[in-house]
Amino acid sequence: MIYLDNAATSWPKPEGVVKAMEKVMLDFGSNPGRGSHQGTLGVGRLVLRTRELLAQLFGVPDPSRIVFTGNATQALNMGIYGMLETGDHVITTSMEHNSVWRPLKYLERRGVELEAVACDHEGKLNPADIQSAIKRNTKLIITTHASNVTGTVMPIEEIGKIAREHGIFYMVDAAQTAGVIPIDVEKYMIDLLAFPGHKGLLGPQGTGGLFVGPRVTLEPLIQGGTGSSSELEFQPEALPDRYESGTLNTVGIAGLGAGLEYILSEGLDKSYQRETLLCQSLISGLEKVPGIKIYGPRAREERAPLVSVNLGQVDANEIAFILDRAFGIAVRSGLHCAPQAHHTIGTLRQGTIRFSPSSFTSEQDIASAVQAMSEIAKELQG
Ligand code: ALA
Repeated sequence: MIYLDNAATSWPKPEGVVKAMEKVMLDFGSNPGRGSHQGTLGVGRLVLRTRELLAQLFGVPDPSRIVFTGNATQALNMGIYGMLETGDHVITTSMEHNSVWRPLKYLERRGVELEAVACDHEGKLNPADIQSAIKRNTKLIITTHASNVTGTVMPIEEIGKIAREHGIFYMVDAAQTAGVIPIDVEKYMIDLLAFPGHKGLLGPQGTGGLFVGPRVTLEPLIQGGTGSSSELEFQPEALPDRYESGTLNTVGIAGLGAGLEYILSEGLDKSYQRETLLCQSLISGLEKVPGIKIYGPRAREERAPLVSVNLGQVDANEIAFILDRAFGIAVRSGLHCAPQAHHTIGTLRQGTIRFSPSSFTSEQDIASAVQAMSEIAKELQG
């Protein structure tokens, strides 16, 4: 199989990820922060190590501000529900994934004012439109870092600056960029950063997290045992415990740690250059296919490493089915859980076929994808 669906979940994983997970299962059958025996301390160190690596990657001075979750969706929900109250105004964009859009629409019914700033047909956002949308009661701005449909990279540095100047919190959905494009929460003035562990960070599914900045106090979504301050009747204030009740996914977190070690040793810039170059050669090849339509910006630095296309008027799911069955190429198709983004770029009816390489993708894989799309186009024309 040629796997070009890394924007949904990355595969394959580095060998060290699998080994780290196996080691926890075999050597550390314990619960971190619950007791004082060697097992609990050992696995506790592994969890701390992953937290520290995440802090290093995102420029977070205090690793206790990194909170583990099961995925980016949980992290986004934690930030959204933990912060917004009736009467607050929240600004987002027309390119968001349902993991942002659905909680916001739900809260809108409960008296939170919602404003989605429109992006253009390539998914691009004008930061001045964010500035114009700010009101007296604006509490939070939420944007994706890069669209999971078009790959369009948002101007997060400019938005962070606008938010900070107005005393508004800024939350970034890094689902497509964590471990792919460098992020520095202090430089970009990000208050909340939600990220998955199983995409660009190369960890297993069931991992993710939220950076909670020092200006922010969220209401915890989940409360319960933290292994700390157990005498208290209420949730402890200290981080990360305030937001991490219940037993952690230690096996997954150990795998995520190994994924982070791999990324940091390879160098984020190197893999980003490689993946975006692969996308540029994919775009150059696909441009020659009759009937192709390529979405998002053309410039390499304006997109995360994913490419959404359509062939004529054919339903995207049909083409993806042929790519899989006839050519052994795995891509994602349809609406990618982001109908707002499809509405913005005009593909709500057809969906798109999305190719997303990783640093394990070869030039030959890209050439095969282009060849397959050419053959399908020829077949459709004949
Ligand atoms: N949101 C993920 C995607 O874009 C799963 O495929």
